[in-house]
Amino acid sequence: DTRYLADYQPFPFILEETRLDFDLAPDATRVRANLKMRPRDATKDLVLDGGSAVELLSLHIDGKVPDPALVARDDETLTIAAAALPDAPFSLTTEVRIDPSSNTAFEGLYLSGGMFCTQCEAEGFRHITFYPDRPDVMAPFRVTIRSEKPILLSNGNPVSVGDGVAEWHDPWPKPAYLFALVAGDLVAVRDVFTTRSGRRVDLNVWVRPGDQDRAGFAMESLIKSMKWDEDVYGREYDLDVFNIVAVDDFNMGAMENKGLNIFNSKLVLASPETATDADYERIESVIAHEYFHNWTGNRITCRDWFQLCLKEGLTVFRDQQFTSDMRSAPVKRIEDVRALRARQFREDQGPLAHPVRPDNYQEINNFYTATVYEKGAEVIGMLKRLVGDDGYARALDLYFERHDGEAATIEDWLKVFEDATGRDLTQFKRWYTDAGTPHLTMAEDWDEAASGGQLTLTFSQRTPPTPGQDDKPPRVIPVAVGLIGPNGDEVQATRMLEMTEAQQSFSFDGLGARPVVSALRGFSAPVVLDRNIDDATRAFLLAHDTDPFARWEAGRDLAMSALISLSQGQAAGADYIDAIGRLAADDGADPAFRALCLMLPGDEEIATRLAAEGVTPDPDAIHSARDDLARRVADAHADLLSDLYDSMAVSGAYSPDARSAERRSLRIAALGLLNRIDRGDRAEVLFGTAGNMTERMAALICLIRRGRGQAALEALHDQFDDNRLVMDKWFSVQVMAADPAQASGIAQRLAARNDFDWKNPNRFRALLGGLAGNHAGFHAADGSGYDFTADWLMRMDKVNPQIAARMSTAFETWPRYDAERRENARAALQRMAAMDGISRNLREMVSRMIAAG
Ligand code: ARG
Ligand code: ZN
Repeated sequence: DTRYLADYQPFPFILEETRLDFDLAPDATRVRANLKMRPRDATKDLVLDGGSAVELLSLHIDGKVPDPALVARDDETLTIAAAALPDAPFSLTTEVRIDPSSNTAFEGLYLSGGMFCTQCEAEGFRHITFYPDRPDVMAPFRVTIRSEKPILLSNGNPVSVGDGVAEWHDPWPKPAYLFALVAGDLVAVRDVFTTRSGRRVDLNVWVRPGDQDRAGFAMESLIKSMKWDEDVYGREYDLDVFNIVAVDDFNMGAMENKGLNIFNSKLVLASPETATDADYERIESVIAHEYFHNWTGNRITCRDWFQLCLKEGLTVFRDQQFTSDMRSAPVKRIEDVRALRARQFREDQGPLAHPVRPDNYQEINNFYTATVYEKGAEVIGMLKRLVGDDGYARALDLYFERHDGEAATIEDWLKVFEDATGRDLTQFKRWYTDAGTPHLTMAEDWDEAASGGQLTLTFSQRTPPTPGQDDKPPRVIPVAVGLIGPNGDEVQATRMLEMTEAQQSFSFDGLGARPVVSALRGFSAPVVLDRNIDDATRAFLLAHDTDPFARWEAGRDLAMSALISLSQGQAAGADYIDAIGRLAADDGADPAFRALCLMLPGDEEIATRLAAEGVTPDPDAIHSARDDLARRVADAHADLLSDLYDSMAVSGAYSPDARSAERRSLRIAALGLLNRIDRGDRAEVLFGTAGNMTERMAALICLIRRGRGQAALEALHDQFDDNRLVMDKWFSVQVMAADPAQASGIAQRLAARNDFDWKNPNRFRALLGGLAGNHAGFHAADGSGYDFTADWLMRMDKVNPQIAARMSTAFETWPRYDAERRENARAALQRMAAMDGISRNLREMVSRMIAAG
């Protein structure tokens, strides 16, 4: 069932207009579709996509029933032979019956808490009606909804709203994956936005009655996003209404349906008592992300699903820029790099590695990955670094001008950069076509006598093989470098070195004394940098580097080298403890930056780094090394941390603004360390007194780590047992923060509870994701973590294959562990592979993972 990029063929018909008429009923919804079509090639049959649960009731071509012998139905398509079609514009009318109430996969039209809603990306529309369900077939839509639900929504502008019926018109041609429909008992938080050119747009955030007081932040975020896209990209909104709807059952985060974004309720609803600072930040960025898709995704969409990164990489890049403008840019950059390493480097290192633009897949839903999204965004960041801010702005203007209304490709995207800047991007394109994380080695050569003191940097690049790609030619790598003089002053401001060869040297002259190199500033390329550098030099950079990312990275490297030595049984950590103390005490540094520096790399990140160096990670040793180092930091700096804990308290009513959140983050980082030596006493007090979820959750994690979380967990449960989002946290935190030896036992116990509503994706992810996030717990040597996870994935696969497949990535690192763990993991993977009726989604994932072992 593999599909290949190289096989692309345009659709042989032009779709001029789509009319849909819905009669909603939970178990028997009728959909009438009227498609105005015109053949491009009259010799071709018309093949429409349509899932096996779509029941065809009638079919007419220009009002007449075609000869049944010329119509064929299989599990995935409806084919009308060319002989049954006019060689001129025609109208195709179908009536079908579908059953939203039995749709547990949440793909197509389904019910969530009694509300009708849809999710059509990537290929969900085919579960609603027969249609050319591919992104390069675009049409304006007219939609009529009949239902007794009070609120009836679809894409575009409302035409009429009556009793039990509503009609919507979306004038902007769009592919079916951007279709949406919502019908439910909903209330709106409302506002109005006036665009730069004077269009008045009604904004609504629709939620269930009772949730209105938690939707205000989402609305504020939307207004900021609309303004930002006008100011920074010159992009205006293009309809009279913009609707956002929050639903409780949703496979992913959110969806950019034209004019009707549908969101997982956890990315809309927030109040100080129920949401953390991180939740607020995430809501702001996902609201922005989906809004930005209106131009990068909707007005310009993808020719086929291989081009997914065209809209996702760019839209992630744009939402990252937005957050940097709204909050602290250096902190945002560091957070993004942390996430990239934790998820994308890990993916690139294992059996699921794939290019930013894959060239084959079995199930496209398996490719909504960190590589397509986050690495896709990094690639655009590199492009911008290479062509400069002006070049980037010109290229983007050209992109919008040239491709508005089209379904485009990565070739189109690169061409606008070439045309706008005159640069040849042939080699750069490898970032899209080649998988794997390049390793960059930097060697320094200092010549006191040459050119008044010359430093030569020699870089070599090498990318390890990935599945199906053994040979990795050199890529273009922008390496941002600065130089710090021996007294701590910067002697060379950031210079962008452009590496294009396997090995390449760059010289800096007239330096006088030998400087310290600050390399890969701002994380200028998504690579692993290997350099021969001692801890004293790292500590020097941590103290003096002017680039916040490189400064943080120096501290990170210090911590990492200490942790790696400790996990291998060697004594280490003194330099780190010393340097980190000085930084934590530096009141001139931004609190959130200091907090990031105080956070030790996670177990998973340590394991990924070890594996990159060819060392087999030992999860238990890593876990205790981390414990050990954290305790020693706390011991060494107890007074300082205690001062920070007190002085970073934010007084007054909780506000989610960036400055307050930054102070809380430093306070919490201090608490996490102090918790190692105060038996959890501070956490206990904080849990009982804090009025906001940020501090309560941090305190709860501390208490669980100290083995005294029971009372707090009970209190939280009593207070919030009717709040699904808080209860999700309640499930996940107990497993995630558990002593690894007990993690899968705790998960097992929680899974047996009545309120483990496992068919709800958020609840399932909370528990299974919580275990996967407990590195030494999931990778328990006895295989208990693997078995528990495999059991539940198999159960979930029968109900919701997308979720099962996505959560199966918990196993993606399995080949890097020791023989015993590998055996256990392989057995779990094989058990899943052998399951009767396994979905295409899960089958593709487990077979790719097994193939690597
Ligand atoms: N386009 C959405 C977003 O990034 C993601 C939807 C993916 N859904 C899916 N079932 N694969 O914003
Ligand atoms: Zn997106």
